[in-house]
Amino acid sequence: MRLVVGIGLRAGTPYAELEGAVADLPGPVELIVTLQGRETEPAFKQLADHLGAEVRTFTKDELARQPVPNPSEQVNRLKGIPSVAEAAVSAAGAELLVPKYKTDNATVAVGRLPADGYGAQERATVQRVIAERRDVRRGFLQLPIDEEKLTRVLEAAHRAPSVGLSQPWDFLLIRDLTTRTKVHELAVRQRDVFAASLPDERRQAFDGLKIEAILDAPLNIAVTCDPGRGGRHVLGRHADPRTTWFSAAIAIQNLWLAARAEGLGVGWVSFFGPEEVAQVLGLPPHIELVGYLCVGYVDHFAPAPELVRSGWAKRRPLSWAIHDEEWGRRTTSIVDDAHEAAQNAAPATGQRIRVIVGGDATHLRQAEALVVDLHEDRPGHDFGVLWRPARTPAEAEEYGVEIARDLALQGAGHLDIVLNDGSPAAKALAEGLRTGASACGLTHSCA
Ligand SMILES: Cc1cc2nc3c(=O)[nH]c(=O)nc-3n(C[C@H](O)[C@H](O)[C@H](O)COP(=O)(O)O)c2cc1C
Repeated sequence: MRLVVGIGLRAGTPYAELEGAVADLPGPVELIVTLQGRETEPAFKQLADHLGAEVRTFTKDELARQPVPNPSEQVNRLKGIPSVAEAAVSAAGAELLVPKYKTDNATVAVGRLPADGYGAQERATVQRVIAERRDVRRGFLQLPIDEEKLTRVLEAAHRAPSVGLSQPWDFLLIRDLTTRTKVHELAVRQRDVFAASLPDERRQAFDGLKIEAILDAPLNIAVTCDPGRGGRHVLGRHADPRTTWFSAAIAIQNLWLAARAEGLGVGWVSFFGPEEVAQVLGLPPHIELVGYLCVGYVDHFAPAPELVRSGWAKRRPLSWAIHDEEWGRRTTSIVDDAHEAAQNAAPATGQRIRVIVGGDATHLRQAEALVVDLHEDRPGHDFGVLWRPARTPAEAEEYGVEIARDLALQGAGHLDIVLNDGSPAAKALAEGLRTGASACGLTHSCA
């Protein structure tokens, strides 16, 4: 525990009195704080030396700004501020641990400081590796990977948090070209399946994208998960078994970041059913594939995601993702924000999407269709159906704005809104779609 001691003292306070006041603290004192000017008092200086603590002082104004639990009329009369000891603890950024107590000539309060973060330069490096990590699919070099680097990268993955410390991952390192060719064939097949599901315009854009580097990268790593690892009583897993797969996914993120710092590119490929890959790799039936990674030295790391640079998708602003205390509560209403954004929205170009509000999966015959299902019951799983059981029309309107904004991020240029349901929620959602579309510069029509 990192303690801070706040002291208010009269001139000439005896040292023995101060020393006695801090005799029974629960740990070493890192910082000793007081009102500016009081640090020259001999007893204060001697106490700081005795404790080996750093001294920091605060002005009256700084102390006056601190809320304190035990303000004193007397101190206010003498010093013009309601507290010295507690206020100084608070000004030092500490949580009050022991409220002020008095001796004949002094008041003392004790706080505990938060543990240190990193210095500015180290923080910048952490932020840098996070920002500059890329999913890499192009520019792999045919160079063998330095074993020490690879070990460091795998160690980083292996240090990931995991539910109940179950560490459910394993890393299967694949260099063999025959195996990689088999996995590559699976990806090619799934690429064709996905392409066939796309509307014409979107398919053309997809044709220009590279979605894997299985044969280009000299090393592939299959990251797996053993959902039963650790036995029956893994702490924290009983109520939510998904936490096992989350743990393995986090290990991949650690791997990805460490690889970036080592100058190794990583590309995650998910264009195959996990069980197909498991079969090619000969995984035991109880082991599941979580991620298939292509790893190697690369000629460069792109400054932004390839999907952004190619115009396929855009990043979602952080503010859209933050809710304050209650789901949907934001600093400003997203409907108001959208109305305001619509004033200056640049016209967007992109795919035409037919959004059928109040439909179901039977409306999905055309590839351009997207259904918004407002029923209370969750529909069967289909990515063409967005389930939005709005609790109020206001919520439905917000959902409409969100859907339009998210579609704009995924390359929409026009929304054909089809209102298939006369309920207030459906009407409000359609209204939100119009507002959200305008906010993002999408053209829209309504039927
Ligand atoms: C779970 C997961 C699966 C992914 N699958 C693929 C994939 O099959 N093919 C591909 O090209 N990119 C894939 N990616 C990479 C994403 O497209 C990429 O992370 C995203 O566009 C952001 O780019 P960045 O990682 O460079 O920041 C996947 C990423 C994740 C997290």
